[in-house]
Amino acid sequence: MEDRYGRNIDYMRISITDRCNLRCCYCMPEGLSFAPVEELLSLGEIEAICQAAAKAGIRKLKVTGGEPLVRPGCPSLIGKLKRIPGIEQVTMTTNGIALGQFLPELLEHGLDGVNISLDTLKPQVYRQITGEDKLEAVLENIRQAADAGIPVKINAVLQKGVNDGEWLDLALLAKRLPVDVRYIEMMPLGQGKGLEPISNKSLLRSFQKAFPGFREDRQVHGNGPAAYYRFPGARGSIGFISAIHGRFCKGCNRIRLTSRGKLKPCLCFGEEVDLMGVLRRNPELDECAGQKSMELQALFRRAVLQKPKEHRFGIEKDVTEGRQMVQIGG
Ligand code: 5AD
Ligand code: SF4
Repeated sequence: MEDRYGRNIDYMRISITDRCNLRCCYCMPEGLSFAPVEELLSLGEIEAICQAAAKAGIRKLKVTGGEPLVRPGCPSLIGKLKRIPGIEQVTMTTNGIALGQFLPELLEHGLDGVNISLDTLKPQVYRQITGEDKLEAVLENIRQAADAGIPVKINAVLQKGVNDGEWLDLALLAKRLPVDVRYIEMMPLGQGKGLEPISNKSLLRSFQKAFPGFREDRQVHGNGPAAYYRFPGARGSIGFISAIHGRFCKGCNRIRLTSRGKLKPCLCFGEEVDLMGVLRRNPELDECAGQKSMELQALFRRAVLQKPKEHRFGIEKDVTEGRQMVQIGG
């Protein structure tokens, strides 16, 4: 689907739950209430939406949350999404805590790759950021996913005075393991508002100083807006997702589906297109599934045409998305 700015939108991020087993300080506030279960898309509804999405031109899916692995049935959903004609790739973003437990099932169902959130290698800082003592489990699960041979990416969000001193140690994971390590600039959404982003531009300079052989890597690594580099001797690459300081939107290829069944044209703004109304209309009448699919496809095209040219994260009053990251899926 082409948007008004000539971008091809062929990638959808799907938040399958607003629940999470961590409480990361920039993502979920204490005491946040979750959507009642009946207001979340059922797994069958997610599959129906993805079938319509594929017909409208979506080719790649990313399953997110909250934490997707806390939703019962996540691995088999991935298998179902993989079997949709037109869908070429299904990947997942997870905090990695339950990844070891579900990895065999996820691989059986054809998961094409996994992004794992990890901001620190220090147990006490992990606890400070996430509220839990799970660092060792996550590191072990990263190793297992890398051993399994699927593409693994680490997502790190740096915060001044908390973990920004660990940029190099985190990068060295890409030396020890065949994983890409990506630095995501803090976005002013939800709890992230007011937290100062560490500029990837200055981080890039630090890398160039530390590794004279630090070179841009033009190989395509994923679906997103990360710019990749390599350093000598590393097995994986280093990625920069410069949400605030970069020209991040020019290559935007995505749309988001929330766990409550809304399409979000852009992360920065509150606008959304409701799919739930169509899905749940007249369930007792057993309306023709083909008719609903056509309507969903039309709603996809509408959402894509609503995509703005770019975000306005730099201007606080223009950021109209009022939800927390855990409710959107990143
Ligand atoms: N800014 C930037 N990245 C964020 N994430 C969650 N909240 C924010 C924020 N405010 C990251 C998570 C996860 C990815 C999907 O988004 O760490 O890795
Ligand atoms: Fe696309 Fe909006 Fe993200 Fe920019 S901020 S990359 S336009 S979704």
